[in-house]
Amino acid sequence: MKSVVCTKLGEPKLLEIKEVDKPIPLDDEVLIKVEAAGVNYPDALLVQGKYQIVVEPPFTPGNEVCGYVDQVGKNVDLKKGTKVIGLPEIGGFSEFVCINKKLVIPISDNINSLAGASLPINYGTTYYALKRRAKAASGESLLILGASGGVGTASIQLGKILGLTTIAAIGSDEKEEYVKNLGVDHIIRYDKENLKESAKKLTDGKGVDIVVDPVGGNVTEEALRATAWNGRLLVIGFAQGEIPKIPLNITLVKGVSIVGVWWGRWTQTSPKETAEDFNELIGFINEGKLDINPKNVYSIEEVSTAMDNFLNRKNIGKTVIKF
Ligand SMILES: NC(=O)c1ccc[n+]([C@@H]2O[C@H](COP(=O)([O-])OP(=O)(O)OC[C@H]3O[C@@H](n4cnc5c(N)ncnc54)[C@H](OP(=O)(O)O)[C@@H]3O)[C@@H](O)[C@H]2O)c1
Repeated sequence: MKSVVCTKLGEPKLLEIKEVDKPIPLDDEVLIKVEAAGVNYPDALLVQGKYQIVVEPPFTPGNEVCGYVDQVGKNVDLKKGTKVIGLPEIGGFSEFVCINKKLVIPISDNINSLAGASLPINYGTTYYALKRRAKAASGESLLILGASGGVGTASIQLGKILGLTTIAAIGSDEKEEYVKNLGVDHIIRYDKENLKESAKKLTDGKGVDIVVDPVGGNVTEEALRATAWNGRLLVIGFAQGEIPKIPLNITLVKGVSIVGVWWGRWTQTSPKETAEDFNELIGFINEGKLDINPKNVYSIEEVSTAMDNFLNRKNIGKTVIKF
């Protein structure tokens, strides 16, 4: 089978496509025939050895897949041919991958594989962030930094479903066009406008209730200064590359909470709640409330281009590899 292999930490162009043996599932594992695998910003960091977890090569990146059960271990009660979403700790960019049964979620055949592979990380993270970390309430306002990216587009869609007023902060004409089509309520061009002033204007001077921040750098402090009394800033990532240092007096004078969000860690500590959230997200798809259409679909041979887009600030929407 074909597999993307990182044989040496460094730029994504160093990744190799290799023919390797199809794995055999252990007793608690499911072998999935992968139809699509989601590509995420952390993949591009992991292959460079710059992610918060460092894995020694050789390894195959990829943490979210959608496909069909091909074979199961003796302790697994799933039929061959069942459609599933899988969350491998690593190894998703392969034609086949073995995953522990706890991290395999059966889905109905009507969910297409590109949507299925797009769901776990971006939508899982964003839903956890809004529902459980910010305790978002219908009617609140939501400022989304990096809104055209993977986490950003999921935040727009789920924000709308949760009844929030969505404000997308984005940095180019092409990105503006894309988020408009997602039905966002307001747009701030933070490459041209003052983020704080525009956010205040859009909320009648009150400020925003919640900020989704996958960007970091200098925009975090600006966004924090744009929050309302009792606001929440959700720390999701640092796509800009710089980890901001925040003057803590802002939290005091605004009563604002800075809330950390690490979805991957939470899925391990809270598997029951993770499953609940997955069921709700799949429910949104089945009810026609959530339509996931990944914008960028690549072949396995194009994996380094897919990863470079994240590092070069070119990624728009969700990116997947189709097998
Ligand atoms: N905490 C968690 O559990 C969790 C889960 C998933 C992802 N993450 C993290 O969230 C971050 C974003 O992931 P993503 O998938 O949304 O990535 P993405 O699709 O590349 O989106 C990131 C956005 O950040 C903005 N940005 C500003 N400066 C940038 C720069 N120098 N380089 C790249 N982008 C820049 C870009 O929008 P503009 O050009 O419009 O500014 C871009 O659209 C990553 O750091 C990732 O590791 C964390």
